[in-house]
Amino acid sequence: MRKKLIAGNWKMNKTPSEAMELVELLKNKVKDSENDVVFCVPFIDLDIVCDILKETDIHVGAQNMYFEDKGAYTGEISADMIKNVGADYVIIGHSERRAYFAETDETVNLKVKKAIEKELNPIVCVGESLEQKETKIGLDFVRIQVKCAFKDISPEDALKVTIAYEPIWAIGTGRTASNEDAQAFCKAIRDTIAEIYDSSTAENIRILYGGSVKSTNAKGLFAMPDIDGALVGGASLNEDFEKIVNYNK
Ligand code: PGA
Repeated sequence: MRKKLIAGNWKMNKTPSEAMELVELLKNKVKDSENDVVFCVPFIDLDIVCDILKETDIHVGAQNMYFEDKGAYTGEISADMIKNVGADYVIIGHSERRAYFAETDETVNLKVKKAIEKELNPIVCVGESLEQKETKIGLDFVRIQVKCAFKDISPEDALKVTIAYEPIWAIGTGRTASNEDAQAFCKAIRDTIAEIYDSSTAENIRILYGGSVKSTNAKGLFAMPDIDGALVGGASLNEDFEKIVNYNK
């Protein structure tokens, strides 16, 4: 039985003092949940958020990392740096990073491997554009993204990865995929994992849905057999996040 994971992706929001306020507001409401909870915060907020949450079961994650260990990479952050402040998750290959910051399938794969080597739990994002959806090549595109992300990763290590299916047209638009469409894509992703590895790996890997998830649509999405939680953007910045985490209460 896969445990659900609800991850908040704050994107480029919240200064350290604002982060402190938001985490203090949400902490007691989302801790001790039967679902796993992660706050993926800007690099500059990691330290303070890890500090506030250190006595709780709430996890903290970064939203990106570099695939080299250290060196002359001005402006980059390493897996060791993220780990050292106490975070244990990292989002890799978010569509905004792919679109605005030249993230490719190849760098996603390198980052996933480095995250696993450094014992960070990667949340790997895949998803099709509106154009790909309309020309009906979305599913093929997502399957290729999955295959590239898992290139040369062993089945044991693959299980350390969480996949987030995030259709680009649904991100920040208020236009969520229907429960059935989100389920169909998550199932196709699971089948792709079975093709690459085997059915047991496919059954055990977590696949999230992301794209305009709110407290009003979370329950329906989470009732789908292949959706194991959500990556939540906008609604992770306020009290709606608590309602999403506690959707089954
Ligand atoms: P959204 O963002 O919930 O604001 O649509 C999701 C994401 O980009 O991870």
